[in-house]
Amino acid sequence: TLSFAQTLVLKADRLIDVENGKLISNAVVVIEDDTIVAAGEARKVTFSKDSKIIELGDYTLLPGLMDMHVHLTSDATKHGYKRLADSLPRVTLTGVKHAEATLMAGFTTVRNVGAPGFADVALRDAINDGDITGPRMFVAGPSLGVTGGHCDNNLLPYEYHTVSEGVADGPWAVREKVRRNIKYGATVIKFCGTGGVLSKGTKVGVQQYTFEEMQALVDEAHMRGLTVATHAHGTDGIKTAIKAGVDSVEHVSLLDDEAIKLALKHGTYFSMDIYVTEYILSEGAKAGILEESLAKERIVGQRQRDNFAKAVKAGVKMVFGSDAGVYPHGDNGKQFARMVKFGMTPMQAIQASTINAATLLKQQEVLGSVSEGKKADIVGVKGNPLDDISLLENIGLVVKDGQVVKSLAM
Ligand code: ARG
Repeated sequence: TLSFAQTLVLKADRLIDVENGKLISNAVVVIEDDTIVAAGEARKVTFSKDSKIIELGDYTLLPGLMDMHVHLTSDATKHGYKRLADSLPRVTLTGVKHAEATLMAGFTTVRNVGAPGFADVALRDAINDGDITGPRMFVAGPSLGVTGGHCDNNLLPYEYHTVSEGVADGPWAVREKVRRNIKYGATVIKFCGTGGVLSKGTKVGVQQYTFEEMQALVDEAHMRGLTVATHAHGTDGIKTAIKAGVDSVEHVSLLDDEAIKLALKHGTYFSMDIYVTEYILSEGAKAGILEESLAKERIVGQRQRDNFAKAVKAGVKMVFGSDAGVYPHGDNGKQFARMVKFGMTPMQAIQASTINAATLLKQQEVLGSVSEGKKADIVGVKGNPLDDISLLENIGLVVKDGQVVKSLAM
């Protein structure tokens, strides 16, 4: 060929084929520029002699991990009133650090579902321009929400006139916010469909936005080719959002049988952050989480885990979503062990964070598996995560876009 780029070859004892749910032994992956050109059993794969070969031995290769619910601009040690002290430039810089920590933990793609001032757009662009190191980012900009709801900021009294940027009431107002977010670079739309744990004065179980508003929001986003993620803990909010056609529901803590049926019927993804409860209850008070929020978490956490098991059993489409930012970025992978503890097989947990996530993002032609023609986003881990899923908390090799960005193996 006329190309001078050197071919990169990864050799490892194992490769996880997430599309077929299979483990391939004695594997080889061939990468040219940013693309996988061949992957599979060593005896079936050929490559040129002057390739750069990385021998990984007792390693398992798998697709780059994908977290569908992060907030890179959020600092897990600053919650509640502590968060009011940081400016937009300050949280953007925090995001730079968190982007790198996320990538080094093996998460080569994230969906950032809410950030102030389009700081997430700036991070994405800086990463894509090569100025800073971080994952591929799909970004929401400011989350949409009702006045006084979970996506508003209710910490200060009336005379401060504090209103979050994404607050909009009424079908046309939410359409306008969707258009504005797209104008400034959002590639996904996030809205709050119920109260939340960490917001002051909201009830987790109570719906926010009417069906009419959700429908308008979803219609506008879909018309423009964007998917919609909905924060919803409460049963009515979950079901109304699914009926309105959202692509994923986040948290989904208080789902019921009908919510599961609706999700199956509409093909809605669930993104259930079942690790974060441990951090909130152990570190939250120190970090500034309000007592009323801790009280809400004590109710929601275990129910969410039990309902996760139910949803998995029923066959709802699941993606990996951690809510990192509430807990430290880079610890995203701690959720894997909980996903297995609460009902998934290790293969299902890995699929949730790879091929399922790619499909939710409508990137399944480009991302989500180690297969010919896809972007070379690949991670490696010592040992076999299908035997011990917690190995994914210690990723030894990270390749993004064909570039080795981390390697403890060599
Ligand atoms: N951002 C979410 C909220 O404030 C966090 C919920 C965390 N708790 C949980 N059990 N998943 O509602």
